[in-house]
Amino acid sequence: MKPALLAAPLLLVSASAAARRLYQLNDKSDYANCRAAPTTDSPVVRQYKAGDTFGIECQVSGMRVFDYAIWDKTSDGCYLTDYYVDTGAPSAYVADYCLYDGPDPGPAVDDYRYRDQCDEVDPWNYYICQCVSFVAQRINERQRIYFTNAFGGSRWGDAGTWADAARNTTGVRVDRTPRPGCIAQHRRSALGHVAWVHSVCHANRSVTVEQYNVVPHQYSSETVPWDAFDYYIHLDHKH
Ligand SMILES: *[C@@H]1O[C@H](CO)[C@@H](O)[C@H](O)[C@H]1NC(C)=O
Ligand SMILES: *[C@@H]1O[C@H](CO)[C@@H](O)[C@H](O)[C@H]1NC(C)=O
Repeated sequence: MKPALLAAPLLLVSASAAARRLYQLNDKSDYANCRAAPTTDSPVVRQYKAGDTFGIECQVSGMRVFDYAIWDKTSDGCYLTDYYVDTGAPSAYVADYCLYDGPDPGPAVDDYRYRDQCDEVDPWNYYICQCVSFVAQRINERQRIYFTNAFGGSRWGDAGTWADAARNTTGVRVDRTPRPGCIAQHRRSALGHVAWVHSVCHANRSVTVEQYNVVPHQYSSETVPWDAFDYYIHLDHKH
């Protein structure tokens, strides 16, 4: 894995529903700092000790801590790296993503958070401003799936290997039929390409995708025939 420490400015909105379940620290530390933002260099708002309980309002991807990038926004309104929290689900979200838009593809808009940090590494272990990084953000924020370069124990790697990795991952479906909120993939270039499917037209078999790095290091959206992509990857069985 590439070492990646990243202080990413995230736009954070509080979840509408307060968490009902209470959580505690796991046994990795006697205490943990809860911070103003999901980065280890942001100010400490409060400290939790072993045995303290707190709710989790929502979760985000932030700075990686020991190769682990989920942060919990607690009921005290601060951010605690999930590395130290006993959620019972160490590499999955147990609450909504703080920016979750619901089970739909969301608006087609360039809301990529890292566009000013091209070539650094994102919280999901992808190089920033590449197509894979943009799609990883979409999956995390719009599907509430903690997707990383190592999702489901497969090595997803470059866009060109995503269909293979998807087939190797339990619960993921790969086919030739797009649905809003799935991933379009082809390997017609050396590294391949992935894009986020925003909408699908069955009448003329066209698909509208959002993507990064077709225009170098930039966002674009286009409507193309279904077969402009080789495969459609469905990470979420609901899609
Ligand atoms: C998928 O699994 C096959 C068989 O185990 C393996 O050879 C291949 O490298 C895997 N590919 C990816 C991208 O995970
Ligand atoms: C197919 O229909 C959609 C929606 O009406 C339209 O936006 C698009 O331009 C058409 N695409 C093609 C490839 O004809």
